[in-house]
Amino acid sequence: MTGSNEPVVEVHDDPAAASRAAAEHLATALGEAVTIRGRADWTTTGGSTPVQIYRELTAQPLRDRVPWDRVHVWWGDDRFVPRDARLSNVLPLDQVLGAPIPGGDGGRLPLLPEAIHPIPMGDAIDAGTGPVGAARAYEAELRAAGLPVAPSGFPILDVVLIGVGTDGHLFSVFPDSALFDSTAWVAAVPAPSHVEPHVERVSLNPAIASAARLVLVVMHGEAKADIVATVLGPERDPRRWPAQVARRRGAVWILDRAAAARLPA
Ligand code: 6PG
Repeated sequence: MTGSNEPVVEVHDDPAAASRAAAEHLATALGEAVTIRGRADWTTTGGSTPVQIYRELTAQPLRDRVPWDRVHVWWGDDRFVPRDARLSNVLPLDQVLGAPIPGGDGGRLPLLPEAIHPIPMGDAIDAGTGPVGAARAYEAELRAAGLPVAPSGFPILDVVLIGVGTDGHLFSVFPDSALFDSTAWVAAVPAPSHVEPHVERVSLNPAIASAARLVLVVMHGEAKADIVATVLGPERDPRRWPAQVARRRGAVWILDRAAAARLPA
């Protein structure tokens, strides 16, 4: 795309190629952050998008390119369910990046358990403090990490990986979200009725996607073609299409041909 505040848009042949490209961008960004700051802070996403990206990261050549023992993983959002529940956004990471390396001798990536930062849903469920309790605890954890803070007052993550729903949501920031008027870094989100699953969530503030060093938006499949064309189209209204927060310089939109089908040539 052209224009000073526009993202780079890449179109790949299929979801596999898009996932490979996303994993390469991620590996490069994590490596650069460690070189510059001594650690890398990555916010990952839920939904179906990240699984193949995780697989690419556990395979060569990327596996050896990432300084895993310096990587911190955060979540952009999660559902208010335990970590091992089918709907958890942490489960796919545990099952791929946290599992023994395929074809190996049982070894795992040297990710440090204390550098994996799931939103503490299990603790909040046990304590009965609900999504609000989980959001408060996560904000405290994020603040304690000592990340640089942007002039907007929000933390600067090295790389934020984002999937976008067909309604244009990113994280669990849905159209007309109250989070656009909030200075909270993390907030509880009521269960959406218009997208599945209909469960309460906890989400980062969309301003964190504005402040990040690099935003990677990954979308594939025909079902995303309309929203891709809208979000990257002529009208700008991030409250209506929250994914437009990620339509910025410093973002790379990684699409497959099916998702890009309705973009102008
Ligand atoms: C969630 C996600 C959400 C997701 C998009 C895209 O918890 O639902 O974090 O923002 O990334 O809905 O989902 P897919 O990757 O499944 O299309």
